[in-house]
Amino acid sequence: MDFAQLKQLLEKHGQQQLIAFWNEISEDERENLASQIQKIDFNRIDELIKEYVLKKPETDIPDDLTPAPFFPLIPDNEGLKSYYEVAKQTGADIIRQGKVACLTVAGGQGTRLGFDGPKGTYPIGPVSGKSLFAYFAEGIARNQEKYSTRIPWYIMTSVVNNAQTVEFFEQNNYFGLDKQQVFFFVQGTMPAVGYDGKILLASKSSLALSPDGHGGTLWALRQSGALDKMKNEGTQFLSYFQVDNPLVAVVDPLFIGLHALEKSQMSAIMLPKTGPFEKLGNFCVSKNRTCIIEYSDLPESLAESRNPDGSLKFLAGSPAIHVISTSFIEKLTDNGKPALPWHRADKKVPFVDSNGALIKPETPNAVKLESFIFDALPLAEKTMILEADRNESFGPTKNATGVDSAESCREMLIARDKRRLKAANVDIANAEKVEIAPRIAVCDEDVEEYCRKNNISSLANMGREVYLK
Ligand code: UD1
Repeated sequence: MDFAQLKQLLEKHGQQQLIAFWNEISEDERENLASQIQKIDFNRIDELIKEYVLKKPETDIPDDLTPAPFFPLIPDNEGLKSYYEVAKQTGADIIRQGKVACLTVAGGQGTRLGFDGPKGTYPIGPVSGKSLFAYFAEGIARNQEKYSTRIPWYIMTSVVNNAQTVEFFEQNNYFGLDKQQVFFFVQGTMPAVGYDGKILLASKSSLALSPDGHGGTLWALRQSGALDKMKNEGTQFLSYFQVDNPLVAVVDPLFIGLHALEKSQMSAIMLPKTGPFEKLGNFCVSKNRTCIIEYSDLPESLAESRNPDGSLKFLAGSPAIHVISTSFIEKLTDNGKPALPWHRADKKVPFVDSNGALIKPETPNAVKLESFIFDALPLAEKTMILEADRNESFGPTKNATGVDSAESCREMLIARDKRRLKAANVDIANAEKVEIAPRIAVCDEDVEEYCRKNNISSLANMGREVYLK
């Protein structure tokens, strides 16, 4: 596209400000800007601007919401107990047969943590200081050993952090995994749009682009060739988790087994919420389909409504842990981008103004649009939800301190590892901080076996900080 065509295109859509500095930028910069502009589907963006930017969309909350049913953590009858046993066995077989891959979404900007770099590189290990990525990598390695199999790992990054993420893996020698089994793919972007409907420039020669939300995972899997690779390698199930949660079981035989037995296309782990307004998505049913209503969207009256026994009606919160069938993703992306709804977020987006000055706004000035992967749940004919134990599976690292912080996550990791050691009859003596490397243990049985084999019955004499690796 030459300059005249570019100009014509932008004028047609009222976005000519994007080339206001054309005469001031170099040939390379022009090429970059032109290529960013050409990637935008302007007809679609016009509609989105009208619908989501120029007016504040009413979040469409269905009026028939009921709480979604789920499989309980502790089976409440013998029939269910034996079903769980069968499911666990089925899941273990599926993992052993190499049909499972891990999928981590790590494209977000992690602004709340206040950490400069991809969130996965954040040093979370309470004693070792190892990164979030190292935690998952070691968990994968241990499971490969347990099940004598190979577990490919798909990691979604974004333009914001892809290069740094890949470099981190290179520097750390892929944490002992085979480089070939780790597949990075970059999610799409959406331009930030000012409240006047104009797309913003991040510099004179680049658009203000940001990741398009983890709903972008589905299309990015398709476009990057990841789905084809999965097909070739016989991957049928994806164990999905967020980069901020090192407590997650990277593969869970019971969860995977139930997903398969229930013929679910997309499954989810649920946690009982700690209160009506805990910042977790809420599992609901509308028109016979499972859906998640984000914490910010659930009307207060519903969030607070209670059963006669005082428990929350909408109890089920989402830690964003899923099993997704690859066949479901294929179906959703066969005819192009899946039609997930967009969500508006009002943000402070630095931009270059009409005088060419870089402005760093103090208050929100623009809209970013994101889609969410859990909006694929209602597109599934069959879903499955399983309750999990929060202390064993969910310690999100969202903030630096306080609730859902690096601090609280480390405390949870320590508490879990202490509990596992106690269950293995190890005297934890006066150890304050304890950390067990996922490379040696990913469950209670592993810890018990490790301590038995290594004759560890007490942590006395190991100091106040103990790291078992
Ligand atoms: C998210 C969920 C919420 C859930 C909670 C559990 C959303 C909108 N909500 O909340 O329902 O209960 O986690 O911890 O996700 N990411 C990308 N690309 C993007 C945006 C995000 O890969 O464009 C990744 C991030 O790297 C992160 C995850 O998605 O791993 C979650 O993003 P975040 O913004 O932290 O979501 P929350 O609001 O905390």
